[in-house]
Amino acid sequence: MKQKLIKKVLMCEPLYFDSLDYVINPWMTPGKINKEKTLNEWEQLVKAYEEQNITVEVIKQNRDCPDMVFATDQGIIRGKKVLLSRFWHDERKPETEYYKEWFEKNGYSLNYLPNDVYLEGNGDAFFWKDKLLIGIGYRADKTSCDVISKLFDIEVIPLEIIDSKFYHLDVGFFPLNNDTAFYYPPAFSQKSRGVLKKLVPNLIEFSKDEAYGFCANSVVTDHHVIHQKGNPTFQEKLNKLGYVSVEVDTGEFMKSGGGVHCLTNVLEETLS
Ligand code: ARG
Repeated sequence: MKQKLIKKVLMCEPLYFDSLDYVINPWMTPGKINKEKTLNEWEQLVKAYEEQNITVEVIKQNRDCPDMVFATDQGIIRGKKVLLSRFWHDERKPETEYYKEWFEKNGYSLNYLPNDVYLEGNGDAFFWKDKLLIGIGYRADKTSCDVISKLFDIEVIPLEIIDSKFYHLDVGFFPLNNDTAFYYPPAFSQKSRGVLKKLVPNLIEFSKDEAYGFCANSVVTDHHVIHQKGNPTFQEKLNKLGYVSVEVDTGEFMKSGGGVHCLTNVLEETLS
């Protein structure tokens, strides 16, 4: 079976990720964040990617945008085309300007959502085979699906999220390859569970511990899965499927409700 091989990612250096003053998802607890620990965790993640021969492009964080560190939320990318996000919460809206600049400087053609349409980039979007799966309900609305479908000329499948803890698709769903995906059933409506069961030949459930341990928020490249540490049952499942688990710690970022996948926007990948 063909494996996805990531070539290049975009990450945001957490220069000012030191305190949280707002709460926009149930994982967030206002208060201090250990800046030194944060930088260290981020550097370990960069290292994990470099060990997989992945080039890491870096954008620097702006002082006023704590959640800017979550690069995946900033846009959906295909080739040199990017669909910039429109954030649901006012607190995150300023981030877009900085990423817009970065994409423009790096030769991407910029595309925008209509004014009243919301979508937070690859936090809620997964290209899967010839389709694009979009998580709707909290940060993205259904109308975004038509816009995206036209822009990328692709069939879009909306998946309805019904639990605010799983506010983005990448907190409750993790596609491993063309056959297998993991999901946390209580995160999705009955109808969307049915859609996933029909769509994915080998659909595996996350246990509650795995889901709350941020296992969905992983990144797969070739036969390696980079994921949050402290999830032994997930590691066992991956090993049985022939994958190597690469543990990292994103504990400081989880205080804002984000992990490995949130910190990483894939710019280039191939099939091997
Ligand atoms: N505090 C951020 C928010 O609520 C976390 C975003 C994490 N990103 C993700 N793709 N899950 O928007």
